[in-house]
Amino acid sequence: MRGMTVRYQALRGTRDILPDEIAAWRFLENTTHEVFSRYGFRELRTPIFEATELFARSVGAATDIVRKEMYTFTAGDESVTLRPENTAPVVRAFVEHAFHRTIAAGFPERLYYLGPMFRYERPQKGRQRQFHQIGAELLGAPEPLADAETIEMAWSLLSALSIEDRELRLNTVGDTACRPRYRETLTRWLAPRLPALCEDCRRRAVENPLRVFDCKVEADRKLLEEAPDMAGSLCAPCAEHFDAVRAMLDGFKIAYVVDPRLVRGLDYYQRTVFEIVATGLGAQNALLGGGRYDGLVDELGGPAIPGFGFAAGMERLVMVMGKTAGVAVSSDVLLVGLGEIGFLASIGLARTLRARGLRVAMPLTERPLGAQMKRAERLGARFALFVGETELARGRFGLKNLTSGEQIEVDEAGIEAVVLAERNDHGR
Ligand code: HAM
Repeated sequence: MRGMTVRYQALRGTRDILPDEIAAWRFLENTTHEVFSRYGFRELRTPIFEATELFARSVGAATDIVRKEMYTFTAGDESVTLRPENTAPVVRAFVEHAFHRTIAAGFPERLYYLGPMFRYERPQKGRQRQFHQIGAELLGAPEPLADAETIEMAWSLLSALSIEDRELRLNTVGDTACRPRYRETLTRWLAPRLPALCEDCRRRAVENPLRVFDCKVEADRKLLEEAPDMAGSLCAPCAEHFDAVRAMLDGFKIAYVVDPRLVRGLDYYQRTVFEIVATGLGAQNALLGGGRYDGLVDELGGPAIPGFGFAAGMERLVMVMGKTAGVAVSSDVLLVGLGEIGFLASIGLARTLRARGLRVAMPLTERPLGAQMKRAERLGARFALFVGETELARGRFGLKNLTSGEQIEVDEAGIEAVVLAERNDHGR
């Protein structure tokens, strides 16, 4: 390979989050920590890879995620998978650390996470192979209020991010008592129509008929519009639960549309499922989605404990948050050393000011004044501080506000005072 020039690029479906974008990401992260903690959620960080089996068992062997989107590899003699989602890992951790011992009726465990997920999907706007999710999981709460309150929290997060063009879609997929009945009804309805459906749907019809609603083929979707709804097969407890959730959302004054075709692409859901979509984001417009997963904890080896949660795509949130959210962090002050003596003195001064919490920029070598002022502009520095022989002798320095152009004279303590006051005024 020697002598050949190779240009490396981030792999398809992955991207660098550049320094100029970080302000928005930090704003999103900080807002999430702030909003979720108000609802009593505690952060949990799980590894980014897990046993492949964990996802196959929970997300479901017939889902697109498990069938064709997982990054799975063998390490030693273990089959491991980069997490395509984080509900299963959270439940795995919940069971492993016996969190259920500390929950009590009415007081579920509330956990949340932020981090990268991996799905081998066809990349497009808003869809990547490495993407990031914010998620919240409530374990040990059978009450409809768990559903309504968690949806309300998701709604508040979007409000705090100033995302107003959104729509809440809601549905119920029944439970182990009534879903088999619906499955049968659907299978019967599908049977004569199978020849008209795509190959994937024909397979789904056999493996897990509800998955036909994941189909992206336009003609199939049209045909499936006529399919019977879950609503007609719901058992009384599921119907009551759904009515209660809706009544609470009405009480919270959160508008929603019931979408009978909303089944979500993961198998662990029971009863309530929901999505919030951004109106005007194009094809990949689901900002977040989730629902109830009452059978999952025991499926993964724990006690029979109900669950409810959701996850949001951070890239999509950043896209609709717009440019105003988040304040860029820039340098407070650029030290402009004048001449060799000034340059050498500014090295010590930079250390002192940094130790006091100021964000200080300075060149690593003596540079002409003009070059330094240009750099101050590039850095978005708020002040330039002139450090020359005369200034050092007098113990007073010229401090120029680069926004207003105004220049004042300050001593060392004054630098800190003026710069920090300006930072507080601007909230950064
Ligand atoms: P999900 O619907 O697969 O649910 O993903 C949740 C959100 O992650 C989506 O609404 C979307 O914003 C984002 N997302 C998913 N795939 C991609 C991708 N390839 N590129 C960019 N963003 C993406 C789950 O993952 C469940 N674990 C949610 C949950 C939590 N259910 C209960 N608790």
